[in-house]
Amino acid sequence: MTASLLLALDLVAAIATAGAWIGAAVLAAGLRARTSSAADAPNDRPAPASIHTPPTIRRRSAWLVIALSGIGALGVLAQGLCVALLSAHGWWFVQEKVVFALPLVVLAGVAGGILATPGLLAAARGSRPAPGARDLAALVGAAAAAVAGIVARLVVGYPLELVPALVLLGLVLLSAALAGAIFAGRRGRVVTGLVAFSVLVLVAAIGLAWLGSAALPGALAATHHGAADAPAPPPGGISVTDLRTPADQPGRLAAFDLTAEQQQVTLASGRTVSAWTYGSLPGPELRVTQGDLVEVRLHNADIDEGVTIHWHGYDVPAGEDGVAGVTQDAVLPGDSFTYRFPATDTGTYWYHTHQVSADGVRRGLFGTLVVLPKTGVPEAVDLTVPLHTLGGVVILGDSDVAVARTVAAGESVRLRLVNTDRVPRRFRVDGAPFTVVAADGRDLVGPTPVTGKLLRIAAGGRLDVSLTMPGAGVRLSSNASTTATLSLGPAGAKVPAAAPVEAASGDLDLLDYGTPTGEELPAGEGRVDTTMVLDRNPRFLAGRPAYGYTVNGQVFPHIPSLEVSEGNTVRLTVANRGLETHPMHVHGHRVRVVSRDGTPSTGSPLWLDTFDVQPGEVWVVEFVADNPGVWMDHCHNLDHAAEGMMMALAYRGVTSPFEQGGPHGNRSE
Ligand code: C2O
Ligand code: CU
Repeated sequence: MTASLLLALDLVAAIATAGAWIGAAVLAAGLRARTSSAADAPNDRPAPASIHTPPTIRRRSAWLVIALSGIGALGVLAQGLCVALLSAHGWWFVQEKVVFALPLVVLAGVAGGILATPGLLAAARGSRPAPGARDLAALVGAAAAAVAGIVARLVVGYPLELVPALVLLGLVLLSAALAGAIFAGRRGRVVTGLVAFSVLVLVAAIGLAWLGSAALPGALAATHHGAADAPAPPPGGISVTDLRTPADQPGRLAAFDLTAEQQQVTLASGRTVSAWTYGSLPGPELRVTQGDLVEVRLHNADIDEGVTIHWHGYDVPAGEDGVAGVTQDAVLPGDSFTYRFPATDTGTYWYHTHQVSADGVRRGLFGTLVVLPKTGVPEAVDLTVPLHTLGGVVILGDSDVAVARTVAAGESVRLRLVNTDRVPRRFRVDGAPFTVVAADGRDLVGPTPVTGKLLRIAAGGRLDVSLTMPGAGVRLSSNASTTATLSLGPAGAKVPAAAPVEAASGDLDLLDYGTPTGEELPAGEGRVDTTMVLDRNPRFLAGRPAYGYTVNGQVFPHIPSLEVSEGNTVRLTVANRGLETHPMHVHGHRVRVVSRDGTPSTGSPLWLDTFDVQPGEVWVVEFVADNPGVWMDHCHNLDHAAEGMMMALAYRGVTSPFEQGGPHGNRSE
């Protein structure tokens, strides 16, 4: 069974336990209240109607309480089974259950059983009118323990630490004590005191969380310089602003001007969309040759939120990385910023704004970057095909309708597929076998011809596909749209119709595609081993309550930076406890996939800059820290990044003078 199925079953079992025990407690309380109000009723007044509840009905209710308690106990057994099976998938999926939720619910269940069973049985047999106060305290305690287990799973998440565990435990004990006091008729001071105390504990916990989260501006910077527990930067520490490309860097100059602006764009269908663009939708393709010195002057005409350009997947010097609030200030209307970097690596990349990017990229602030090898590519026809969705309209390449291009039979074609959306997309090539020659800009080794497989591309990812044009032509389509397709072929060719793209089972798996080389990661000095556990939990985001996307239980900017020293070999284990896919993207580095869910990568060395961690999956990737800077590391579902799933990869000794907020309104996500 998959980890996400087990997570779901475990949650269902936990909810069933809580439901059954809450039901039992409520029913028992009702029984007790009816009989005690009957007993308490003064003699000179008519007894309440409930005293007339016939004994058979009361006995039946007591049996029902016993049955519900038993159902809850079965739920506990089911939880235990799920947790045992889940633990095989990794500690991250079970930690809070093993150390807290399960022991608590088992203890509460056993104690409740021992304490309440005699009283409940007596009530069921009719030898006493109702369960006693102690029985009720036991039932309420068990129900509270079951609820605390759910809170630990969904609200606290991984890792569950001592303080929240103690708070939850305290609340469980308090609710049991409270129930005992109430039903023993000792209301008064005890009850008030207990209620006041528990409210205080809760308010204090929530208040502290809020205070911490409200301290947003500058908080990211504080995690990598100046925080009390962070080692001080060594003397001679360096700022990201020093990590830039000198203007006189050798190389043939490839200069571009991009102006970010609001634009009404009329698409091929005739439909007009309001977009934010770098001059066109998509932005101009920047096509350069290895060895060039790329220089891009960004101007902002009228994007009030500010813009930047981040070179997605391209390992530029840190100061050119284009992250507002980390490597530069957002470029406000009327301002400009010049990026410069050597085109060292070849391949297919893209660029986009990194200031409020969830909004900016969706609206169109993106384009593609292609770096050709000095010798060119072998294919005669070389097309870059980004896929983007804007306001519900799917744009493939630059068109929202079917496009046909003439390509002579026998010609070789390269399609550079780029997913600029927030969710994974599946592409489909019909009409000819193809080979996947590159992933995320890096050539694959020994790719073999593929037919009948879908190409799943993570949000932000790229695949380069190469094929030889058959006489009947080929068609490229995606699961995003049946109208925006691309057909290529000789004039008059009857290109295969666009087939629906859906079958998930037919995805090409790059983990065993191509030929292994045995090539090892260059030996680094010192290893850093770290784990990122992805989840969704209620948190405060900039002082506001939100259902945040968390890394190790925290949201940006409170997720501690991953600190490395230049030369370290870094191994990242990423586990997804949530229900959504998280395309994790590391700036400034490509990572090599070691394994996914324990299955090692056995094909071509697989270097990615965005790897798609699906629900319940565990990925292990590694890279060498060879590009000093302060880098973002985040989910490329940019909405998730905006809601917390973002952190920094910080080199020791490198600092950033920029901050969140401030006069430029910097927002790194
Ligand atoms: Cu493509 Cu941090 O982004
Ligand atoms: Cu995500």
